[in-house]
Amino acid sequence: MIEEALRGYVPSPSSKPRLLHEAMDHSLFAGGKRLRPILCLAACEAMGGDHRRALPLACAVECIHTYSLVHDDLPAMDNDDWRRGKPTLHKIYGEAMAILAGDALLARAFEIASRYTGGRYGTGIVVAELARACGSRALVGGQVSDLEAEGKEISFRELRAIHLRKTGALITAALRLGAMAGDASRESLRAVTEFGRFLGLAFQVIDDILDLTQTREALGKSAGKDLAAEKATFPRLLGLEGAQRAAERYTSRAHRALAPLGTRGAILDRLARYLLARES
Ligand code: IPE
Ligand code: IPE
Ligand code: MG
Ligand code: MG
Ligand code: MG
Repeated sequence: MIEEALRGYVPSPSSKPRLLHEAMDHSLFAGGKRLRPILCLAACEAMGGDHRRALPLACAVECIHTYSLVHDDLPAMDNDDWRRGKPTLHKIYGEAMAILAGDALLARAFEIASRYTGGRYGTGIVVAELARACGSRALVGGQVSDLEAEGKEISFRELRAIHLRKTGALITAALRLGAMAGDASRESLRAVTEFGRFLGLAFQVIDDILDLTQTREALGKSAGKDLAAEKATFPRLLGLEGAQRAAERYTSRAHRALAPLGTRGAILDRLARYLLARES
């Protein structure tokens, strides 16, 4: 459902300017897990809402996520050659096109989100939520801190703050937007927010572990890069086993955060467990 909706929301790769639209397509349809849009739809359902209402918000989040990956891979950032099982966008289309395709995906995300017609939470509220999640105090700010921390010894608290922003913010927003599309009560929205923060932390800790333990073929993206770039990561600070325990602890805190939702939280809980066990 998400693949089909995304196709409808972005320009066809054969439309002008062709190279730009081809480049956007290259990254957007390369075979990502679609975790964030899935969480968005699941959160809407957990509120008793019709998941179709959350579809534009789910797709907007995936466009933002994809743009963040395209820019994250640029030589000026993580300098990676592989993403989603394919050469990175800049490897094929060049750096200028990768920057511009990322810009266009980000802009498109807001165009898609603005098509959401609200119930309890209006279009302005959801668009502002999305903007905050990818702004200077969240995703982009986290990316800046991630780069600044390369080669440095930082504290556990600082590392946690980086992960919360660079990864946790968009994952939390995906869940909150889905919950809003399901007309969530204040209490449910609070529960989903807390769930998102812990799930986002667990997700990035696992990503850091997989970078160390998996191959490029398994991940579809470069492996072993964090060590080479001296990135601040959980395994670097706590060791592999310590990082694994941290991911488990965050996942159980995510589980506990769902308590106010009762049985409605089951699908989100299952997703969190699935992500803890993932191998790519
Ligand atoms: C990778 O995200 C970047 C991080 C925030 C760790 P995903 O692991 O969700 O990447 P795709 O979307 O499946 O490619
Ligand atoms: C990525 O973190 C976070 C964002 C893209 C915002 P990483 O740099 O660890 O992601 P990968 O490992 O390249 O997917
Ligand atoms: Mg990075
Ligand atoms: Mg990276
Ligand atoms: Mg990584």
